[in-house]
Amino acid sequence: MTLRAKITGTGMYVPERVVTNKDLEKVMDTSDEWIRQRSGVEERHWITEGQGPADLAEQASRRALGDAGLEADDLDCIILATLSPEHEFPGTSFFLQERLGGETPCFDVRAQCTGFLFGLSVARSYVLSRQFERVLVVGIEVHSTGLDISTDGRDVSVLFGDGAGAVIVEANEDPLDTSGILEMRLHAQGKFARKLWVEMPSCAQTPFRLRHENLDSKRVYPKMEGKFVFKHAVTRMPEVMLETLNAASIKKEEVDLFLFHQANLRINEYVTNSLEIPPEKVPSNIQRYGNCSAASIPMLIAEAKQEGALTPGTIVSMTGFGSGFTWASAVVRW
Ligand code: ACO
Repeated sequence: MTLRAKITGTGMYVPERVVTNKDLEKVMDTSDEWIRQRSGVEERHWITEGQGPADLAEQASRRALGDAGLEADDLDCIILATLSPEHEFPGTSFFLQERLGGETPCFDVRAQCTGFLFGLSVARSYVLSRQFERVLVVGIEVHSTGLDISTDGRDVSVLFGDGAGAVIVEANEDPLDTSGILEMRLHAQGKFARKLWVEMPSCAQTPFRLRHENLDSKRVYPKMEGKFVFKHAVTRMPEVMLETLNAASIKKEEVDLFLFHQANLRINEYVTNSLEIPPEKVPSNIQRYGNCSAASIPMLIAEAKQEGALTPGTIVSMTGFGSGFTWASAVVRW
């Protein structure tokens, strides 16, 4: 009997507060036009006081559990992908588990914008090796509290939003049900780690990792070589997508839906055009949410499900690129 790892539930959550490009014009030298033209972002959701990563993760997780018809007690494992943890340690997954209750094993994955796909591959492996039957995979980011919201940080800060997305991965042994994660491919290139990173605080800084001067010199904020990242993203995303489709013996024309990490609308348009993919097969939500890193792809999945785009048999290709550098792809039969 063939064992498959199947996505049985999806959910997403963004905080209520909407921050428009016009709002950002009031606090830095930028313009709605610049942001839209370069990135596609029109607005993003940022948390308000009293909210944190685990709150967003809980909402998305409860929605995914509800969609799968499960309770938190049914889970065998929780995998949470993030680059913006609730605390330095332990990982956000533990604060999520506290909210969901129980003693389910849990841990965080650190693969930035590709973190959800890395987490999904671990969940798939657990299911296929029969270690666990039901795994929650969450992508969650709270970028807003770590950004330089001033003209100095404008090239990065205008891009990012807060949000969470979650899926449930379950074992499927039904011979009449061919749905499941068909193939996944993962890549990384640490030599470009410093092209998109937050340098400080660093445990390599002796004798103390925390220093006032790092705050004053703004080394605690994300830094990016934008054009360098752009070039690598538009090369690596098609590469890994085609590699994964080939491994699954699926032609790109057979794919119904392409879910790309929402880093920048221009990156995704470039990839879409270069592979001659019909744009209607490539949904985007960066206009409304900005770049939510590890949460981007599961948020797209949840919206596609909500809109009725994920019916049985739908072929979905998911591809991401991010800091590390990391890049990965999955192909799923719904
Ligand atoms: N508002 C107004 N002007 C700005 C802003 C802003 N928010 N940010 C930068 N500028 C200015 C710059 O100072 C510069 O001015 P100058 O010409 O006087 O020096 C000018 O705009 C052009 O700046 P560039 O950095 O050259 O702009 P570019 O065209 O490269 O666009 C962008 C920047 C959108 C970041 C682009 O490089 C890009 O798309 N990079 C891809 C990376 C990306 O999207 N990363 C997202 C996170 S990573 C991830 O998730 C994979």
